Amino acid sequence: MRLSEYFLPLIRENPSEAQIVSHRLMLRAGMIRQSSAGIYSWLPLGLRVLKKVEQIVREEQDRSGAQELLMPTIQPAELWRESGRYDDYGKEMLRISDRHEREMLYGPTNEEQITAIVREAIKSYRDLPKNLYHIQWKFRDEVRPRFGVMRGREFLMKDAYSFDLDAAAARHSYNKMFVAYLRTFARMGLRAIPMRAETGPIGGDLSHEFIILADTGESGVHVHTDFLETDWRRFDDVGWEAPALQQVVDHYTGMYAATEDVHDPAAAARYGDKIVSRRGIEVGQVFYFGTKYSAPMGAMVSLADGSTAPLEMGSYGIGVSRLVGALIEANHDDAGIIWPQSVAPFRLGLINLRPADPRCRTAADELYAKLRDRRVEVLYDDRDESPGAKFATADLIGLPDQIVIGPRGVAAGTVESKNRRSGDRRDETVESALARLLR
Ligand SMILES: Nc1ncnc2c1ncn2[C@@H]1O[C@H](COP(=O)(O)OP(=O)(O)OP(=O)(O)O)[C@@H](O)[C@H]1O
Ligand SMILES: [Mg+2]
Repeated sequence: MRLSEYFLPLIRENPSEAQIVSHRLMLRAGMIRQSSAGIYSWLPLGLRVLKKVEQIVREEQDRSGAQELLMPTIQPAELWRESGRYDDYGKEMLRISDRHEREMLYGPTNEEQITAIVREAIKSYRDLPKNLYHIQWKFRDEVRPRFGVMRGREFLMKDAYSFDLDAAAARHSYNKMFVAYLRTFARMGLRAIPMRAETGPIGGDLSHEFIILADTGESGVHVHTDFLETDWRRFDDVGWEAPALQQVVDHYTGMYAATEDVHDPAAAARYGDKIVSRRGIEVGQVFYFGTKYSAPMGAMVSLADGSTAPLEMGSYGIGVSRLVGALIEANHDDAGIIWPQSVAPFRLGLINLRPADPRCRTAADELYAKLRDRRVEVLYDDRDESPGAKFATADLIGLPDQIVIGPRGVAAGTVESKNRRSGDRRDETVESALARLLR
């Protein structure tokens, strides 16, 4: 993409409405614009990151055996009366009525909807287990929408729902999602710590929140320092068999980590000064809630002996749009964003320092063409701007590596490459830069 043609409305000054760094940087880097409180448009650069995050989430859901579908954003109130949540959910639910005065709502979550689909389709234990997920916009009329996409009213969530015959099988489904979450966040370069959690309005008796530590986080948490010191793995080698999974889950839930709501000072005291209090951002949550929805909504299966039983369920959310903000909270410096490669909107920035110089232009155009041939995602700064402005833009939007073409290098047959995170710069030939960066 040529920057001269790209829709990238940058903001020079710090926007006064933004209280935390990720919100400031998302506005300044032209990733989002607010439409109304807690509701945002995603501009091209921001959307590229959102899609990268979404795709990692999708791949790890698929790998765990979950199947993607897509449910609507608008749901009938009827369904929520069946589960008894229509009145309980309160003011966070956006209630709407259509032209026939039918009560509808913009879904804050989809337990009822998926249960209604499954109860019609799954009648026998032979059809189990199933895990179905979608990645869809949600609406919650939050009292205090703030911090940009971190606490929006409209936000993108991945929500998965598991259906099993009995509690043991449901536990296995829970463990699969637990490990899928570890892998998902690890691929984004995040350390998301699984913490014992309150189950809240979704209900149930087993739940963990995945929380990344950040001073700007809204959750108070208490964690064992082992979590801060352990070398975070990529979890590539974990198998999906029950004993292997249980071992991983036991390991990560064996270390003390709890949110404020369920913190147990007496239990924590056993670890002495090894427990530290921090703040964190909740990026995902897993719940096992048994028959909370299947029983009232009549989602039953027949068993081998001819009897029937309500389905055992769990639900599993990931805040896809919140993650974009959380990633910036975890990856930035004074100059701007520092994207981890796996979620970067473009892999490379190509900067032509002197577009007016024919030799620079030829060299930069040729390299741009070569990168496009190789399907490398590259943002080519071919604008007629000062070198300082180009460097500032590149640092602000945080692409992992920059390749800089200028008159001195063109004469010497080299380019300058700069790594955004380490700041390392080197003069090298184009071939060596590409060989090194695009391994
Ligand atoms: N208002 C929001 N804006 C952006 N993301 C959100 C919002 N509410 C929830 N999420 C994300 O969706 C995930 C799953 O939703 P869940 O029902 O667990 O949220 P929650 O526990 O109510 O969130 P919170 O405690 O932050 O309000 C959360 O882990 C979070 O990452
Ligand atoms: Mg939650």
